[in-house]
Amino acid sequence: MEKIMQKLTGASEGKLNGKVAIITGGNSGMGLATAKRFVAEGAHVVITGRRQDQIDIALKEIGSDKAIGVQGDVANMKDLDRLYATVKEKYGHIDILFANAGLGNLAPIGQVTEENFDLHFNVNVKGLLFSVQKALPLMKEGGSIILNSSIAGSKGMPAFGVYAATKAAVRSFARSWTSDLKDRKIRVNTLSPGPITTPIFGKMGLSEQQVQEFSANIVQSVPMGRIGTPEEIASAVLFLASNESSYISGIELAVDGGKPLFPGKLALELRTRHRQKRRRCDQRANSNARPSSFEKFCKEIIVIVPDFKKLAKRAFHCFEDFADLG
Ligand SMILES: NC(=O)c1ccc[n+]([C@@H]2O[C@H](COP(=O)([O-])OP(=O)(O)OC[C@H]3O[C@@H](n4cnc5c(N)ncnc54)[C@H](OP(=O)(O)O)[C@@H]3O)[C@@H](O)[C@H]2O)c1
Repeated sequence: MEKIMQKLTGASEGKLNGKVAIITGGNSGMGLATAKRFVAEGAHVVITGRRQDQIDIALKEIGSDKAIGVQGDVANMKDLDRLYATVKEKYGHIDILFANAGLGNLAPIGQVTEENFDLHFNVNVKGLLFSVQKALPLMKEGGSIILNSSIAGSKGMPAFGVYAATKAAVRSFARSWTSDLKDRKIRVNTLSPGPITTPIFGKMGLSEQQVQEFSANIVQSVPMGRIGTPEEIASAVLFLASNESSYISGIELAVDGGKPLFPGKLALELRTRHRQKRRRCDQRANSNARPSSFEKFCKEIIVIVPDFKKLAKRAFHCFEDFADLG
């Protein structure tokens, strides 16, 4: 029926047409970018957050009557009950839940306070668990739940201990819940962003300069050499939320600019060496440089052993490809 209406009204077909999506922490950063994307794909979206003024700003930015906001703290059970009571009254069901609300303050071991520990585990772990559990009575068969973890959950980074532990718990939840919810055909997947430009860095208790230094340092360890955008996260969430990922459940999707294989300084050093090597190759290609011993060796093989001509030619091309890569 929906499709017939679309054809009649000329409305374009979105990947989430008519779906009802809840985005906790949808008034900022990745949550807000995802809310915008979901609405553009035809979904009805409910965003949450503790700051009502920021919800109002976000709704204005989204600029659609398909989005509403419900203020609340995910760590507060009464707030969650109120959220889902509102959703039930307005939409009657949920198709997609992006459990995204979270925070992070840095503290190395030795400086972790009980208060900081409780705050992280209350919001990132308890808050996320009950955001999901309390949504379940409204979740439709075939629904999709996306948990926002972090690559920090499987990495060791200085001062990230408590935050990383909460995100490791989130990854772990997805694996168990996939089995718990299989009979209801609800898919549960984890998204693990790498460094993404959002207001979160400004909330970590760091000065503006420290944030810049921190970002510059992190960039060195990202193979793609840059920080990601909230819109790139929104695209990945859309994939996990939509039927495009209908046979995917229980995975951890890293959206992190490539798996960081090396610690920051080493990555930078390797990149510099790689560039220098490429420059040397380019210079050699543009000059009438003498052939390398490897080239000579290949040419000799071609002359001396005709049967090996093909093999030698292939080796020669491999060498050329290798030189191209620098
Ligand atoms: N940015 C990164 O590099 C990065 C990387 C990996 C993972 N992540 C994760 O991505 C998620 C989104 O973060 P972001 O980077 O988009 O930062 P952000 O812009 O600061 O967004 C965080 C959102 O969570 C909400 N929130 C925080 N505590 C809450 C609570 N107790 N109850 C309800 N809502 C709460 C915030 O709204 P209010 O302040 O109004 O409550 C805000 O909407 C977080 O879970 C974060 O850990 C971020």
